[in-house]
Amino acid sequence: MKASLSTDNALERFPVQSIRGNFPALNLDENFVFFDNAAGAQVPQAVLDAVNHHLLVNNVQRGGRYSKSLAVDAVIARARESVAILLNTRDPSEVAFGMNATSFIRLISLAIGQTLAERDEIIVTDMDHEANIATWLAVPNAKIVWWKMREDGNLYVEDLQEILSSRTRLVACTVTSNALGSIVDVAAAAKAAHHFGAEIFLDCVHYGPHGLIDVQAMDCDYLVCSGYKIFSPHMGFLWGRREILQSLPTFREDFIPDEPPAKIEAGTFIYENVAGVDAAVQYLEGLGAMLQEKRHNSRRDNITHAMQAVRAYEGALSMELLRVLREIGATIYGIQDESRLHERVPTVCFNLPGLQPARVTEGMADARIGVRDGHMYAPRLMRRLGVDQDSGVVRISLVHYNTVQEIHRFQDVLQSLSRHA
Ligand code: ALA
Repeated sequence: MKASLSTDNALERFPVQSIRGNFPALNLDENFVFFDNAAGAQVPQAVLDAVNHHLLVNNVQRGGRYSKSLAVDAVIARARESVAILLNTRDPSEVAFGMNATSFIRLISLAIGQTLAERDEIIVTDMDHEANIATWLAVPNAKIVWWKMREDGNLYVEDLQEILSSRTRLVACTVTSNALGSIVDVAAAAKAAHHFGAEIFLDCVHYGPHGLIDVQAMDCDYLVCSGYKIFSPHMGFLWGRREILQSLPTFREDFIPDEPPAKIEAGTFIYENVAGVDAAVQYLEGLGAMLQEKRHNSRRDNITHAMQAVRAYEGALSMELLRVLREIGATIYGIQDESRLHERVPTVCFNLPGLQPARVTEGMADARIGVRDGHMYAPRLMRRLGVDQDSGVVRISLVHYNTVQEIHRFQDVLQSLSRHA
C-alpha cells in the first residue's frame, strides 16, 4: 500500500464545480447535500443517456441475428472491454456481469464449497460487510477462521499470516470497509495467502469509487464490485483469474458453455445498466483526460490519472471531515490520524455523546443533508466497536463530487444538534 497520500493544494487543484456539472441529480436540487454515497452514488448525464438510449433503441434480447440484437451483443462486449480496462485485467473474458456483488459472492461460494477437501478452511474478517461473511459461513463443511480487525480499525497482514496454513482454501476480505472507510493492504494479503497455496477473494465494492483498481497489482484471484457505487446504475461485476474461473464448478444450464464469462453469468442481466457501467467507466476516463494537459493517453492511463486525483482530493475531504468531528467531540470509529489518510477513504462512522444516531440523521434530514444511521450491513463490526447493533452509528460517506462547503454545512447542523442534546 502507498505509504502516504499527498493532499497539498488538492482542494484548489480539483475542479469540483465543473465536475458537479456532469451530475444532473446534484443540480436538480442544489440545496440538498448528499452524504450517503456509500449506499449508492449519483450518475453522470452520460450514464443516463446510455441507459435511455439502450431502452429506446436496443431493448431486445441478445443472441439474435437481427440488428438490434446484434447491437445488444456489441453493448455487452464494449462494456466488458471498459470494465476490463477499469480493473486492469489480462483479458476481458475474466469479467462477468450480473445483479450485484452479493449474488456473485454467493455464486462463487457455492462453487468453492464443492472443491473443499483437505483444504477446508475459509478465512473471513470481522471488518467486512455481512455479505462477505455470512455467505462464507454458510458453505457446508467449511471451517471458518477469523481474521480480526485491530483496535485502530484496520486489518493487519501480520495477523493473517498467523492464521494461514496449508489447510486454508480461501481468504475473503474487503478492500475497503463500507463502514469505517479503512483500506486494507490487499496486495500483501494476497501474497501471504498465495504463499500457503490459498486463494483470495476481494470485496471491492466500497473501494471502487475512491481509488485505482488493479487486479494484477493486487494479485488477487477474485474481485467483485457493485456498479451503483461507481456512478453506474444497479448492476454488479465479478473478475476472476481466467484459469480459476475455467476450473470452477459453477451451476449452469445445459446450453451454457463451461467457459468464462458465460458460466459465471446466470440468466439475463440488466443490459441497459451494463450500457450504463460502460458510460461510467468512460466518465472516469474523461475526468482523467480533462485533468491532464496531455490528452492522448491510453484509456487505462486516463483512469489512473483520474483516480490519483480523486484520491488526493478525497484525502483533503477526509482531513476536514475528521477535524470537524474531532472538534465537536464525536466518537469516531476507525482511522483518525492525519498521517494515516492513505489508509482511508472519506467514509466515516461516528456517534455524538448523548444523542441517538437516528436523532442525528433526522436532524440532518430536516436540514436537507442525507446521511445514514444503523448497523451499515456490518452487525458483527458494530458489536466489535461496542455499539448497540439496533441503533448503530451515523455514517457519512463522500465521493469526489462533494465539497468542503458541504462539510461546513454539515458542521453547522452538527453543532446545533449538539447544543440541543
Ligand atoms: N452496502 C451498501 C452500504 O454500505 C448498501 O450502504
